[in-house]
Formats: sequence, structure tokens, C-alpha cells
Amino acid sequence: MLQTTIETIVFKDDVLQMIDQRKIPLSFEHFECRDYRQVEYAIKEMVVRGAPAIGDAAGYGVYLAALEFESQDLESFKKNLLEACDFLEASRPTAVNLKWALVRMRKIIEAGGRNTEIVRRIKEEADSILKEDIETSLMISKNGAEVVPQGATILTHCNTGALAVSGYGTALGVIRQAHYDGKDIFVYADETRPRLQGGRLTAWELMQEKIPAKLIADSVAAILIRDGEIDLIIVGADRIAANGDTANKIGTFMLSALAKVYEVPFYIAAPISTIDVETETGEDIEIEERCAEEVTHIEGVCFAPEGIEVYNPAFDVTPWQNITGIITEKGILRPPYLEAIERVVKE
Ligand code: MRU
Repeated sequence: MLQTTIETIVFKDDVLQMIDQRKIPLSFEHFECRDYRQVEYAIKEMVVRGAPAIGDAAGYGVYLAALEFESQDLESFKKNLLEACDFLEASRPTAVNLKWALVRMRKIIEAGGRNTEIVRRIKEEADSILKEDIETSLMISKNGAEVVPQGATILTHCNTGALAVSGYGTALGVIRQAHYDGKDIFVYADETRPRLQGGRLTAWELMQEKIPAKLIADSVAAILIRDGEIDLIIVGADRIAANGDTANKIGTFMLSALAKVYEVPFYIAAPISTIDVETETGEDIEIEERCAEEVTHIEGVCFAPEGIEVYNPAFDVTPWQNITGIITEKGILRPPYLEAIERVVKE
């Protein structure tokens, strides 16, 4: 049985409480949001991060906005709420779960009813998104375990565990499941420059779960793959286009290319909510560019020469041809993905 005691997002007494992921593992602190502006800040500044988790947070952000505007006349109430949705959506552009959660919220606002009714339905929807996220990640974990052979050495990138999903995780959920199934697995976790989600968060989760693992600098992955040390690679996703092209943390594409050259299975693990059929191919995915300090500084200390220009895309796109399978809550999709995705989103 899978277990995690990590509660990434908790909503209680009209306060959204989140584990502050900027601080782990040096300290374990919570960040509280009492209004939707604070939720937007938390998403933008990566207090909360990971595609599904930011969708969960946004849902409660809309609820906090609904509480704030509830006493207004119906027209202003709805107008302000829809603007709050736009504001939250602009916080991060690549991970589609944010947009997906807000589409669900907008439908409720636009469906009408009295203010109190809309507020109630928004709260129910935010709770459902969180609950579905937890259940979905459990299904992904179980479905994915079938591709993990006994004694496998797995390489993963970025953080895809309980911190990113408010459940068991996607790629890291599959790893957890394989570990609890007694498969005697070993994990190499990329540190994941520049924000070090692998070094700080995945390494922390692996240690919490006592899963045998080593942390590596991103550039080590190539020689491990070349030397036959990696049996499979599993990563998460921030947006999957209709043809299967997948945006994930910067560095993922490089791993997929190596996997192809050395014939190592390369899997994406993600909920169906990460598939965006309105995005035709990876070329249509907006890639978030983040600030120079993420590259020039570590823990607030600058190591680069002053004035150096920086290019810092947060994500890259892995072409569908490099992906062996996409592990979802509805099973494992296999290429060609256009048909497989069309089928699964219709179910
Ligand atoms: O910038 P981040 O930390 O939000 O990026 C997270 C990732 O790229 C994850 O791999 C992805 O969201 C999948 S999380 C289940």
C-alpha cells in the first residue's frame, strides 16, 4: 500500500496552507494564503510548483476570491471573479493544469446562480480538483509500476512526487509504487538546474521514503546512460500536446535524446489533465522564461560575473518520437499518440 504523509496543500478555515517548497530541505515551513493575490504570488514564486499542484492551489485561489467578492452585486461579483481567474492563470504559462483548473472554475462562474450558490460550488470544485489529483496520482503510480522491471535502476528529472502533485506523485509515484512492490529498485535523481528541484525536493522525498538513491549533477546522466547503468527513465510533464510532444522541466529533452541513442525506455507519467488537445504540437507550447538570478545565483549568492546575459527557459519539449509511453490514470498510451490521446480524452 502506498503511503505519504506529505500534505502539500491543505485548505482549512478559509486559509490555504502550503508546504513552502523554496525552503526544503533546509527547513520545513508552511506558507499561508488568505487571499487570491497571495495564491498568485505563491505560484509565481514557486512556493508551490509542479503542474498538478499549481492547479490545486489555483482552485482554492478562486474560492478565496469568491469569498472576498461575495457581498458585491451579482454582476460585479462575477466580473471580479473572472478577472481573478485571469490573474491566477497568468502566474505561470507552461503547466496546463493551471489553465485546466481555471476552466472548471470559469464554467461555474458563467453558469450563473446566486452569489452564495456560486461560492458553494466553487468550494466543492476546488475540493474535487484536489481529491481527484490525489486519486489520479495513485492510479498513475499503479499503472506505471508494470513498466518497472525487478531490480531496475531508474533515472528521473525534476520533482514529480507528493510535493508536485498533492498525492503520491506521477513519475515519483511510479517509483514509490515499484519500491513498495519490493522490486529492489535504485534511483538516480538529476539535481535539475537551475532551481534544483531534484537536489532539494526529489532527494528529500526519496530519503523520506527510504528509497535507495543517488543524487547526480545533470551532466552525469549521459555517461550513466551510455554505460548501460540506466534501465529506464521516468519523468513528469507540464503540458502534453495533442500529438504527444511533451513539455517538461528543462533538461528533459536532452535525456530523451540520449535515451533514444542508447535505446533506453523513456516514459512520461502524467494525469490526463496535463494533456492539452487544444495545443496541436510542441511548437505551440509557450515556454516560461525565468529570471537571470536563477542561473547566476545559488542561495542568494552570485557566482557569475556581473552583467553577464542569461538565457533561462524553465521547460523544453520532448518530441513524441522519443517517448516510449505516457503513463496516465487510464493506462499507458503508446505511440503514435495522436490516436491514443484522442481516444483517451474522449473516454
Ligand atoms: O518549474 P516547476 O518546478 O513547476 O516544474 C515542475 C516540472 O517540470 C515537473 O516535472 C512537472 O510539473 C511534472 S510534476 C508532476
